[in-house]
Amino acid sequence: MTKPNLQIALDQNSLADAVKIAHLAGPVVDIVEAGTILELQAGQQSIKVLREMFPEKIIVSDTKCADAGSTVAQNSKDAGADFMTVIDSATIATMKSAKSILAGIQVELYSAWNWDLAKKWREIGIDQVIYHQSRDALLAGEVWGKKDLDIVKEFIDMGFKVSVTGGLTLDTIKLFKGVPVYTFIAGRAITGKENPAAAARDFQDEIRKYWA
Ligand code: 5RP
Repeated sequence: MTKPNLQIALDQNSLADAVKIAHLAGPVVDIVEAGTILELQAGQQSIKVLREMFPEKIIVSDTKCADAGSTVAQNSKDAGADFMTVIDSATIATMKSAKSILAGIQVELYSAWNWDLAKKWREIGIDQVIYHQSRDALLAGEVWGKKDLDIVKEFIDMGFKVSVTGGLTLDTIKLFKGVPVYTFIAGRAITGKENPAAAARDFQDEIRKYWA
């Protein structure tokens, strides 16, 4: 089974802090994400800088786009992004117009999705979703468990590449053993550590343990 990617989510409040962490941990990960918080603070410049730092890596623009799909996608693409996120509650028209500009559209699943919508996303050619536990839900006591695994498997059966994120720790990874997850996205569990490179290496080792 293909090894899932490891993606770092850079959700710093300043570009300078994000660059410091990216410099350390970026070389260890497979995909580098300009997180929503960073993009709101530093704009498209954050994507441009990450693209310059990592010309060979996949760069994600985590806009969680809700409207003006083609404009936001064009801006992300021009800045150097390969993938861009749209929120699950965006209209099909928004998703379609984003997809017409940037092939790598990822629908971020929060609370507005259902299986009929997911079928429509497939029909318009979207083949990536991000299964997400929100920060706020986790803070309110949600935990990762079998219910999440079952949903992820069903999306995979529908033909989606599924990324998994939201408060991931090393301990969460083994829950998905045997499931062809596309990417594990980790933010604070890497960026909040004193040694982000070592934390990213620990994630890669943990992923390799179960997806040899
Ligand atoms: C927040 C996000 C984060 O980028 C994602 O959840 C990863 O961050 P963390 O591992 O710190 O939860 O999309 O909206």
